[in-house]
Amino acid sequence: MDRLTAEQKIIELSKLIEEHNRHYHLEDNPQITDQEYDQLMRELQDLEDHFPDLVAPDSPTQRVGSTPLSAFEKVEHKTPMLSLGNAFNESDLRDFDRRVRQGLGNQPVKYVCELKIDGLAVSLRYENGYFITGATRGDGTTGEDITQNLRTIRSVPLRLKEPLTLEVRGEAYMGKTAFEQLNKERAEKEEALFANPRNSAAGSLRQLDPKIAASRKLSTFIYGIGEIEGKRIDSHSEGLTYLEELGFCVNEERRAFDSIDDVISFVNNWTTKRPELKYEIDGIVIKVDSYAHQQELGFTAKSPRWAIAYKFPAEEGITVLTDIEVSLGRTGVVTPTAILKPVILAGTEVKRASLHNEDIITQKGLMLGDHVIVRKAGDIIPEIVGVLKERRTGEERPFQMPTHCPECGSELVRLPDEVALRCINPECPAVIREGMSHFVSRQAMNIDGLGEKVVAQLFANGLITSVADLYYLHDKQDQLLQMERMGQKSVDNLLQAIEASKANSVERLLFGLGIRLVGAKAAKVLAEHFGSMDQIMQATTEELVTIDEIGPKMAESIRTYFSMPQVHELIDKLKAAGVTMEYKGMRVQAGDDLPFSGKTVVLTGTLSKMSRQEAEEKIALLGGKITGSVSKKTDLVIAGEKAGSKLEKAEKLGITILDEEAFIALLS
Ligand code: IVH
Repeated sequence: MDRLTAEQKIIELSKLIEEHNRHYHLEDNPQITDQEYDQLMRELQDLEDHFPDLVAPDSPTQRVGSTPLSAFEKVEHKTPMLSLGNAFNESDLRDFDRRVRQGLGNQPVKYVCELKIDGLAVSLRYENGYFITGATRGDGTTGEDITQNLRTIRSVPLRLKEPLTLEVRGEAYMGKTAFEQLNKERAEKEEALFANPRNSAAGSLRQLDPKIAASRKLSTFIYGIGEIEGKRIDSHSEGLTYLEELGFCVNEERRAFDSIDDVISFVNNWTTKRPELKYEIDGIVIKVDSYAHQQELGFTAKSPRWAIAYKFPAEEGITVLTDIEVSLGRTGVVTPTAILKPVILAGTEVKRASLHNEDIITQKGLMLGDHVIVRKAGDIIPEIVGVLKERRTGEERPFQMPTHCPECGSELVRLPDEVALRCINPECPAVIREGMSHFVSRQAMNIDGLGEKVVAQLFANGLITSVADLYYLHDKQDQLLQMERMGQKSVDNLLQAIEASKANSVERLLFGLGIRLVGAKAAKVLAEHFGSMDQIMQATTEELVTIDEIGPKMAESIRTYFSMPQVHELIDKLKAAGVTMEYKGMRVQAGDDLPFSGKTVVLTGTLSKMSRQEAEEKIALLGGKITGSVSKKTDLVIAGEKAGSKLEKAEKLGITILDEEAFIALLS
């Protein structure tokens, strides 16, 4: 492709990609699939690799995380990032209104109400329309330079629709779904969970490695202008509309009102509607709309007199800790749960709160019968914040964690480096029962009609002792029919669902086995890589850690699991029942006899006989690893028509180059 055509194509693709970013992030209305989006990005990346001098600073490719920093630089804010005074009830809001009207000599006043997004305050600086610096609030005068991380957020425009120099302020946040997904993945990897979306947004943006921020689904809402050159704006509402026109994501739930009564209705309305939002808010911000009025009102030492933050009532309450229950999970971990005298928090009754582990009980100094403070933040599970020791009567009793498994009686152990107590008896009925529920769950073997209650009954009636027994239940129809709420139809459906699950691709079984640290994603990667259960069972720790997604801890856990003779018996029994032990999807083959085994391959130029995606898939299937740029580590370059700078570089480095014909010959 010649330079001019490439330039045009780059502009076209960049525009298209940013348009799709807008559909996705600003309008919440994606128009293409993630794969199609990735394909566009790949095409652009490829063109930019050929013509590196055509890479624009606002190219969508510049969003992917660059190299890690060793520390954040400090950034002085051009205008200070102030915080707001708080209002906690209607009377505080009326006081605010009175102060405002008095300050303005009782002129009519217009307020703009906005949602108070629960994230991290950020400041974004643009020069001549380009995103230059992004910073945290810090102490209000000096923040930290988190530009690299903010660039990865797709709702942050890298270039504005006009070549302006301005500084805007807003909130970076993580939506509820992204937050739950992130915590789920972290739980699978036994990593510490984030307590709420605000912590996860702040934690992601304060990472020195921008790749981490890039992998977290963060968004922004811009709510104000810090400074703007060469544009006259008269009011906050006008400013917000203009920010939207420039390409920023501005929250659409904003409203302007002429009276404090209407403001109060807006606040009350959101107090109840708040759970419907896809992100967390912790209040409503009320701002005087006219900039002239804002100027007239001015600032106190800490905050503007023209704005206030209404904070939703604290979702905390005081109640009594009546008991602590301990239960066993599928990995044998004993989890204590606080049983509370019911208390209403954020509109729902709270009766239980997880205590996670023994250390938390000790740290908080909890005793049975204590008065405790309980908090429930939005959708987040309730937690005990602290104990009111001053309310003790002397009747409180200390709590002792059991030393033996409440179910099977074996001694509980605390493994080195772990806070959790575990029952390590592989035959513990509680562990097996929990493991069974996991085995049949949707992401694992996906067996319908086998809810927790049915599993417990099958167990109690001695119909199953391991997951493999499920596949022999067809011989026990009479006993099944004797179980509670089990008619012929339910039995038929159940047996059919069990039968159907035999055909599942092996990653479901692998995940279902509940090997410590092996989540659904890791199971898929393993299945894809090794192709069958037998191969996975034979894999050494060294082989396992060569796979990108498998770390040493997980590799060790897999090895330990498959070294147990009872596991081999279990797999044999499943095999004999006809459960699939093979991966059924497209597979990356292992072995050193494949054409691309262990080779790092770069594809460049255009192929005439197949698409780029097809070629990439084939290379991966035959053991190769595709990378985007040519370096000393590249083993092979496949050069199609009009290959450019990558081909030149490969020639310079003396790397083996294949043309399309040679590539196809190798494939066959
Ligand atoms: S206005 C001088 N608007 O709430 C005005 N703040 O103390 C500065 N926040 O940490 C803030 N949503 O980051 C404003 N729509 C909104 C907001 C908002 C969230 C945060 C802000 C700051 C705190 C206010």
